[in-house]
Amino acid sequence: MNAEPTDVLKDEASLQVDQDGNLKHLLTLKGIDKSLLIDILDDAETYLTEPGALPARSRALAGHTVANLFYEPSTRTRASFDLAGKRLGADVLNLDVNTSSRKKGESILDTIYTLEAMQVDVMVVRDASAGVPAYIARHVQPHVSILNAGESDVSHPTQGLLDVLTIRQHKGAFEDLTVAIVGDIRHSRVAMSATHALSTLGVGELRLISPPALAPDADNVPGATIVDNLADGLAGADVVMALRIQRERIGNLDGIPGIDEYFANFGVSTESIKLASPDAIVMHPGPMNRGIEIEGTVADGPRSVITQQVTNGVAVRMAVLDRVTRTTDTGQ
Ligand code: CP
Repeated sequence: MNAEPTDVLKDEASLQVDQDGNLKHLLTLKGIDKSLLIDILDDAETYLTEPGALPARSRALAGHTVANLFYEPSTRTRASFDLAGKRLGADVLNLDVNTSSRKKGESILDTIYTLEAMQVDVMVVRDASAGVPAYIARHVQPHVSILNAGESDVSHPTQGLLDVLTIRQHKGAFEDLTVAIVGDIRHSRVAMSATHALSTLGVGELRLISPPALAPDADNVPGATIVDNLADGLAGADVVMALRIQRERIGNLDGIPGIDEYFANFGVSTESIKLASPDAIVMHPGPMNRGIEIEGTVADGPRSVITQQVTNGVAVRMAVLDRVTRTTDTGQ
């Protein structure tokens, strides 16, 4: 990347709302107002239809153009933003980053300015470098929205939204819940955004379970309990979320258990899940590595809400797209 986001200074939480508190960009769930968070979840509910029914559609984004810029692999997030934009009537451009001019040395900002010149007004960005979504948001025209679709190990806000929506659908209020997230917490943007959202919603207890080499810095997860023993972490939990090991972000694998040892000690399995509450739900953001962080029979079993998370992902992204374009439309 060329001269890029070293100047991420402005607070992301304030950058993403306008002077009236309306969502303009979605960069992080850290510091987002509880009322705004709940409003987005409520909006997302309106985009859900009964199983077997046709998906919800509207023309809310007619005339708008959404570009997906994914500089890291994705199945769920990219496909769901694509569907969300189309189901709201937008033109959707899926930029093939492998054949884009960034490969020829074009800076990310020159790519953004090029898309702006084509009247793209929502850009959905996934990037391996921390700070990229906020950096772009600080440089685009006032009518353009930037949505963070996964930023290094820092943030994945729409994933956090779909995760708390799924929990709310099954468990209702958050205050009395014990949520256990198990896996590679240290390198997980999913864990970070879930932590931000759950903290804002007042979750009763949040346990982050991992081997020590994959544990987060305590400063990054205030209010959470860091646990290095699966049995202690899962005991009585109402929600269990398994995370894969983010090997693409780990330079040195020293201290990280091998696959068999990892599954035996930190895998969410038919045996270990018995430690959780009898009505505990099992979540996973995907992509799953069956037999490593989660046993296939658990992923496919009656407690699993993993496919519901995927369905909710489209609804959440529709809600966010609708909300940011309403903000930019009225701001012009
Ligand atoms: N959960 C998630 O971000 O999945 P993808 O990498 O497939 O988008």
